[in-house]
Amino acid sequence: MADSSIQSILREHRLFWPSESFAQAAHIGSRAQYEQLAAQAREDPEGFWAEQATRELEWFTPWNQVLDWQPPSARWFVGAKLNITHNCLDRHLQTWRRNKAALIWEGELGDTRTLTYSQLHWEVCQFANALRALGVEEGDRVGIYLPLIPEAAIAMLACARLGAIHTVVFGGFSAEALRERLIHCQVKLVVTADGGWRKDAIVPLKAQVDQALVGVETVKNVLVVQRTATPITMEPGRDHWWHDLRQGMSAVCPPVDLDSEHPLFVLYTSGSTGKPKGVVHTTGGYNLYTHLTTKWIFDLRDTDVYWCTADVGWVTGHSYVVYGPLSNGATILMYEGAPRTSRPGCTWELIEKYQVSVFYTAPTAIRAALRQGEHLPRACDLSSLRLLGTVGEPINPEAWIWFYRVVGGERCPIVDTWWQTETGGIMVSALPGAVPLKPGSATLPFPGIQADVVNHKGEGVPPNSGGYLVVRYPWPGMARTLYGDEERFRRTYWEHIPGQLYFSGDGARRDEEGYFWVMGRVDDVINVAGHRLGTMEIEAALASHPVVAEAAVVGRPDPVKGEEIVAFVILEQGSSYHEGLHQALKQHVVQEIGAIARPGEIHFTEALPKTRSGKILRRLLRSVAAGEEVTGDTSTLEDRAALDQLRETN
Ligand code: PRX
Repeated sequence: MADSSIQSILREHRLFWPSESFAQAAHIGSRAQYEQLAAQAREDPEGFWAEQATRELEWFTPWNQVLDWQPPSARWFVGAKLNITHNCLDRHLQTWRRNKAALIWEGELGDTRTLTYSQLHWEVCQFANALRALGVEEGDRVGIYLPLIPEAAIAMLACARLGAIHTVVFGGFSAEALRERLIHCQVKLVVTADGGWRKDAIVPLKAQVDQALVGVETVKNVLVVQRTATPITMEPGRDHWWHDLRQGMSAVCPPVDLDSEHPLFVLYTSGSTGKPKGVVHTTGGYNLYTHLTTKWIFDLRDTDVYWCTADVGWVTGHSYVVYGPLSNGATILMYEGAPRTSRPGCTWELIEKYQVSVFYTAPTAIRAALRQGEHLPRACDLSSLRLLGTVGEPINPEAWIWFYRVVGGERCPIVDTWWQTETGGIMVSALPGAVPLKPGSATLPFPGIQADVVNHKGEGVPPNSGGYLVVRYPWPGMARTLYGDEERFRRTYWEHIPGQLYFSGDGARRDEEGYFWVMGRVDDVINVAGHRLGTMEIEAALASHPVVAEAAVVGRPDPVKGEEIVAFVILEQGSSYHEGLHQALKQHVVQEIGAIARPGEIHFTEALPKTRSGKILRRLLRSVAAGEEVTGDTSTLEDRAALDQLRETN
């Protein structure tokens, strides 16, 4: 994509300062302090990170080198040993926090559980011993396919305690998508539940696992948590109930000494090909990076009740539901359900009920709430809130202002946090006591993050010009590789732009004050309700249907979800269109990937606009999908008639 095609049209000039009392109490309470930290980290990145690592975490063995950087391969805290669960659990047991609530959970049915740090530690140790009893060893991969219940965090931490590598698959993914990930990651054991509650219905997780596992040889055992008490089939010898297995199970399980670079997890995310990428994060650097970003960006205090609404199936759930907050000794709220017709105001009711003080959610959820109307949040006492956050996609100023005014009562700063699965933690965000906010901007890079906006040669572009969002220097939370595919890692992130820069795949501009304005993906990835989906993945799913010869998928702006999926489909010769085909193909995508990938619209066509070399011109399809006039260069189009025909079918 040419740089000139990244055009920035958004202009927003309002500035929002934190109140004096907020700034005074904040970890980082002034712009000068932010600048000083950023300057220190720029001048001596290794010294900066080493100082934080010493101050914030406990290590079993110290490092002998802070960073070993052989682009694109980074090793942080080389030679050090630690266990992230020691930092998330054991060390708090030595303090007054042992009886502090670590996790407050509420299910969709209104049932609740609270686990103190001491209780969570107990559960994690028992779970780890159960995994070990089922043959899980250091380095083995464990699949986790659970609803948002405490066991999701417990299972992750149990793996980490043993040095087993977890790969969490979002419970909304289909059996097919689960199977692909389990096979790719050569998973040895799967943790699942009989079912989970979502929007007043039961998601049959165990049945999906059964379907996914047919013929998958590596998976020897399935550990099943009882959540919904729905009837399921248990395969003797392979499937085990957690509540049976834990009977008499010891809760003594010392954390394993792990190398700082020992893999902690693999998390699959969409890229611009049909195959998801297994992003690998390791232990020491990830622990430090998620810890420090949580502390400074969410400005965490021991008295906070912190609620991040993400599911553990996404990276936000890893870094900012589980590891970052627990490492800080925070009290976390976890809610199994989602806003739904039967309880549209549940978000606000939960904030009131649990006196949530820090609330981190997605722009799509804010836009949905905005549409429902102010009366729902207004009906609840939200005065406990002191800080708000957003993640997943750019937030439009209208939604930002609504969030600020109606939810935050004009007293809570909003941290708009830009980051990705690959970055491990937040990269660009305000430190809320230090940096004034501009609605729609993620503001400034975290200290130690050398983010920049460049052209295709890697040269910085002038203020307010569009370009590629890159990072110029390694950081502790960065992905180390793609599971089983170092070559793709190199190609995708490190070879696009010269100069050994990390290429994020996003377009952005920086204004005259250095504020970042993220403009969205520049590759074939679309962002539906804050979830990343590769257009190729959806195209491959459509093309796997027997009547489909070829498919092209693009995003179309959507007022709530950010983007909506629009598919253009060519049928096989001999297959003809019939009523019901729209539905059948949508359902097919749901089966192949999951409900999040369901196309909103399908157009049937005879031809697709392609270049002479056969590449689909998505730019044109995007215009057609949005009902816009097709403008710009169409000279590379092989067959002009294809475009005209598309417009007619529209
Ligand atoms: O396009 C950016 C968008 O989400 C992408 C990363 O998606 P994923 O790896 O699934 O992680 C989502 C949660 C971190 C980015 O490449 N994105 C994320 N946060 C923002 C954003 N776009 C604009 N502003 C944000 N705050």
